[in-house]
Amino acid sequence: LPTIDHVDVQGKTVLVRADLNVPIKEGKILDTSRVERVVPTVAELMRKGASVVLLSHFGRPEGKVVPSLTLRPIVQVLSQALKQEVFFANDCIGESARTTITSLKPGEVCLLENLRFEAGEEKNDSLFSEKLSRLGDIYINDGFSVSHRAHASVEGITHFLPSYAGRLMQEEVEALQQSLEHPQRPILACVAGSKISTKLELLKNLVSKVDYLVLGGGIANTFLLARGIPVGASLVEKEMLPLAQNIEEEARKKGCTLVLPIDVVVAMEHEDALFHQETGLNDIQTNQKIFDLGPSSCQLIKNLLKEVKTVVWNGPLGVFEQPPFDTGTTDIAMEVARLTREGKIFSIAGGGETVAALNSSGSGKDFSYLSTAGGAFLEWLEGKTLPGVAALFDASRITSKEEN
Ligand code: 3PG
Repeated sequence: LPTIDHVDVQGKTVLVRADLNVPIKEGKILDTSRVERVVPTVAELMRKGASVVLLSHFGRPEGKVVPSLTLRPIVQVLSQALKQEVFFANDCIGESARTTITSLKPGEVCLLENLRFEAGEEKNDSLFSEKLSRLGDIYINDGFSVSHRAHASVEGITHFLPSYAGRLMQEEVEALQQSLEHPQRPILACVAGSKISTKLELLKNLVSKVDYLVLGGGIANTFLLARGIPVGASLVEKEMLPLAQNIEEEARKKGCTLVLPIDVVVAMEHEDALFHQETGLNDIQTNQKIFDLGPSSCQLIKNLLKEVKTVVWNGPLGVFEQPPFDTGTTDIAMEVARLTREGKIFSIAGGGETVAALNSSGSGKDFSYLSTAGGAFLEWLEGKTLPGVAALFDASRITSKEEN
């Protein structure tokens, strides 16, 4: 992967595509890790004498200026993280962007307004890509988490500027390669979430790659029902039953062991946490719903963890946000964290909700790698090529601005 090590940035204007699309609720930023994780790249470029121009999208304004989706509030978070003033341009290819960039000195940094205020961004319009490219000399993609989008600032621009991977991009790609492309075996993947339909491609790809596939959440319920086990009033996707059977069949052929719960924690509704109950699979009442794994299932998974060398995780195993239904996820996560600390396994997790759950259980910090990506992490696990990453690997990519 061509990286910052392969280019001299001194005195150059470097466009850095970051993903500053932070989770936000009622105007409050819930998690600033995406901002913090781009700091090493920006700081290194500044230290090496580049003028740094940060590009990002925020939310889905669909090509229109939506004032609530301005990137301006990120300026303060960024300057705190960088311990340096960050300038802001009110547009991304207009007058404000041009004048802000022209007045940047080496070692200074600015952020441009939300790229998705321009329709050309999501359309991967080449005119828009070219306009963006005219703002700098070199392009660096440090937004792995948006690299599943073939958008102008992610893919299109690489046709106009010499393009390289930033440090975060490099880290993400290396960690993912280590987890599925050149892994130490056996591999155990944990996939949970409410619906099979959103993770179908992922499940199909993983059964051919991993040794154990642990399922949780609504996905596990549907697989249990497909095996003929009544799951009471639990969340299931009835229309997915034949597909679940196909995946079981495929797993058998490929030598992948599907690991389903052998006991569960049930309640009538998850708000009725007080009246929850641990139960075997044969005793789920018709009005009960499964909200977590039971202790024997946790033990079973922990025993498997002792045998494996690599763990890939996406999706909390139970209704994590409602204690005590976080117990199963926390129990397993603590064990993965312990084994990682002891150097026995390589562990990687991704997806906003998953990483938040692991962090709130205190185990996230001990994982070998936490991806900043949601959708891009899933697409990688699905075995898809991410256009933003592929563009950097492309041998025919341009390496000097003059070539264009
Ligand atoms: C993400 O949060 O996964 C990325 O920022 C991509 O956002 P998008 O799904 O709106 O393209």
